[in-house]
Amino acid sequence: MSDKKMPPQVGGNERQRDIYIAGARAKKPLIPISFPEMEKAVSKKIPLRAYAYIAGGAGNEESVKSNRSDFSRWRIIPRMLRDVSNRDTSVELFGKKLTSPFLLSPIGVLELAHPQADLAVAKAAAANDVPMIFSNQASRSMEECSDAMGDSDRWFQLYWSKSDDLVASLVKRAENCGCKAIVVTLDTTMLGWRTRDLDLAYLPFMEGKGIAQYTSDPVFLKMLDEPMEQTASGPINAAAIKTLIKMTKAFPGSFIQNLRSGLPRKAVQKFIQIYSRPSLTWENLEYLRGITGLPILLKGILHRDDARRALEYGVDGIIVSNHGGRQVDGSISSIAALPDIAEAVDGKIPVLLDSGIRGGADVFKALALGATAVCIGRPYVYGLALAGEAGVDEVLKNLQADFELTMGLSGCKSVSEIKRECLVRA
Ligand code: FNR
Repeated sequence: MSDKKMPPQVGGNERQRDIYIAGARAKKPLIPISFPEMEKAVSKKIPLRAYAYIAGGAGNEESVKSNRSDFSRWRIIPRMLRDVSNRDTSVELFGKKLTSPFLLSPIGVLELAHPQADLAVAKAAAANDVPMIFSNQASRSMEECSDAMGDSDRWFQLYWSKSDDLVASLVKRAENCGCKAIVVTLDTTMLGWRTRDLDLAYLPFMEGKGIAQYTSDPVFLKMLDEPMEQTASGPINAAAIKTLIKMTKAFPGSFIQNLRSGLPRKAVQKFIQIYSRPSLTWENLEYLRGITGLPILLKGILHRDDARRALEYGVDGIIVSNHGGRQVDGSISSIAALPDIAEAVDGKIPVLLDSGIRGGADVFKALALGATAVCIGRPYVYGLALAGEAGVDEVLKNLQADFELTMGLSGCKSVSEIKRECLVRA
């Protein structure tokens, strides 16, 4: 295990005390503590299109709802008189000790929440010893974020595009900038039917947002020299010109030069053409194994047989996820899928979970049902939207405090004591 220096763990008691002491001086917390209040505040703060993209899910948003409601199918049974005066929330993941069992889920297009986007998140993640999984659809390049993180843990999430050369280039860059694992997201071979975005006819990528990993990639930039397939384009009106200006601003380098070269528009077109590969199969994983020695995790696993298959293919970890309910409406929730998958994996590789983690009790339940750690999604994006880096910092500290108190109050001194017996079905 690495003996990397971890930041001192701020306990739940201390966090509460600080908040109440500040309150006695009429100082309220920087951002709301509860998720629903955060969400409400964000809905008032950022443009509707941005909010819809972040908060929305597929179809009737049944999966978004069951990601939450299925946590209520499990209840914690607190145990008493167990001396919980010292509590240790650390876990080990791929030979590294983490202060708490959290990572940050890869989330694209963070510029919709805040101009500092991924960079603000990277700094807050590093300050809290929480690994950040860089999104393939980031608003800032992985190199820029890594530079701000010192030796803190970061991973890279890959969308397997139509070009293996691009895949190889992204993976190589991730290795070069110190990423410790590659997460392949499997559930987004096509975009889900996202009703809120469709109602607003809004997809941020069309404005050149969320493609920073591409526009900073030498292989991708080279592709822009190739002749483009013709795509349908509507009439040129004021809105189309506005979109072109946004695209051009989003592209690295001088605005005027970019406008002249037409590269920003080409980049968006190229991205749309190649970003995903619906033909992907298990056999493709061998290619990835051949180009990197980093641990490979599969994100989006929801069936026990897929988990078994992942083991057969020598995958190093699994993220149980339904993409925050953004892909298949009415799909099984992550927390409902977890017990079967944990049983199938039987401790051979780490099993992580995301989709629906909103508080300490959710983390506790996921660990009790067999997760090694959890990934936080929308909560940190809301923190970012409300107060930039400081907002993400607050979200992480609050979750850490909430989890640590829940663990202690349930009678557990350490994560290893959080077991299936701590829960009962509701
Ligand atoms: C995502 N997610 C995601 N996943 C991924 O692998 N790559 C990505 O680029 C993105 N982008 C993205 C954008 C937005 C706005 C959201 C909300 C989600 C899915 C993400 O990693 C995670 O699975 C979910 O966010 C988990 O659900 P909750 O907890 O946020 O509800």
